[in-house]
Amino acid sequence: MAKNKKKNQWIVPDGQPLTDMDIRILEYQGRGKLVPTRELIKTPEQIEGIRRAGVLNTAVLDTVAEKIRPGMSTWEIDKLVYDYTTQHGGIPAPLNYEGFPNSCCTSVNDVVCHGIPSKDEILEEGDILNVDCTTILDGYYADASRMFVIGGKTEPRWQRLVDVAWECLKIGEQVCSQPYVFVGDIGNAIQKHAHQNHMSVVRDLCGHGVGLQFHEEPDVEHYGHRGTGMLLVPGMTFTIEPMINLGHWQVCTDADDPTEWTVVTEDYEPSAQWEHTYVMTENGVEILTH
Ligand code: MF3
Ligand code: CO
Ligand code: CO
Repeated sequence: MAKNKKKNQWIVPDGQPLTDMDIRILEYQGRGKLVPTRELIKTPEQIEGIRRAGVLNTAVLDTVAEKIRPGMSTWEIDKLVYDYTTQHGGIPAPLNYEGFPNSCCTSVNDVVCHGIPSKDEILEEGDILNVDCTTILDGYYADASRMFVIGGKTEPRWQRLVDVAWECLKIGEQVCSQPYVFVGDIGNAIQKHAHQNHMSVVRDLCGHGVGLQFHEEPDVEHYGHRGTGMLLVPGMTFTIEPMINLGHWQVCTDADDPTEWTVVTEDYEPSAQWEHTYVMTENGVEILTH
């Protein structure tokens, strides 16, 4: 999603005693750090709702994984996503979201994200494809994406890209093995791993808060400096979804897409991405989409 910059304030309701969490957050706020607002802290009931949406979202992606094969169009994947989601009481969040025409994003090779499923786009052996699904269930949202190597085999350097993108997600997750870390800590660790592997991190798009809406605060950038960005505290739900490029990081919208959704690499080199929805707990993040 697009980035947003504003200062938040942690407000303790009048007459309410300070909790340990209030004290910790107020201390960071006093040091000029970006802290969440109270609305970003989900209740246990809301977290259960997001977890249920996550279970359905995972089942949708599992169905795609089971059926995907060379010769299939990305439109057929979209149909699988729509049918499975709606048959199980969910709504595909992308459908009609800010004019997006389909139920999921299918991003092949040099498409970075937000690829639009099409009957004319036939998957071939060696293609690398990201399928990004977001499910609304009882008003709660869960968002995840996976890479698929069509036919199971691709060029070694493309396979390495897919693997490094996965490693970047896991590294971001490890940074969140305790609460009260910053979004910039995640980005910094991901960026280092990508650069060590001579790959680049897309800067124009980021992860995001999720749960009660499709895209909430905070922005979760996949690059940056430690100690910057928003403080992550127990009860926050958000995605990590690094987009890693084999070439340089610059991206643009695909001139051939009249909806202007499709994001492609400028240098036509491939891009890979994995995404999970997480809840921060007292013991670090838990994945809600597997
Ligand atoms: N699922 C994407 C994300 O991870 C957002 C897609 S917006 C859509 O944030 F409209 F293209 F679906
Ligand atoms: Co997302
Ligand atoms: Co997504």
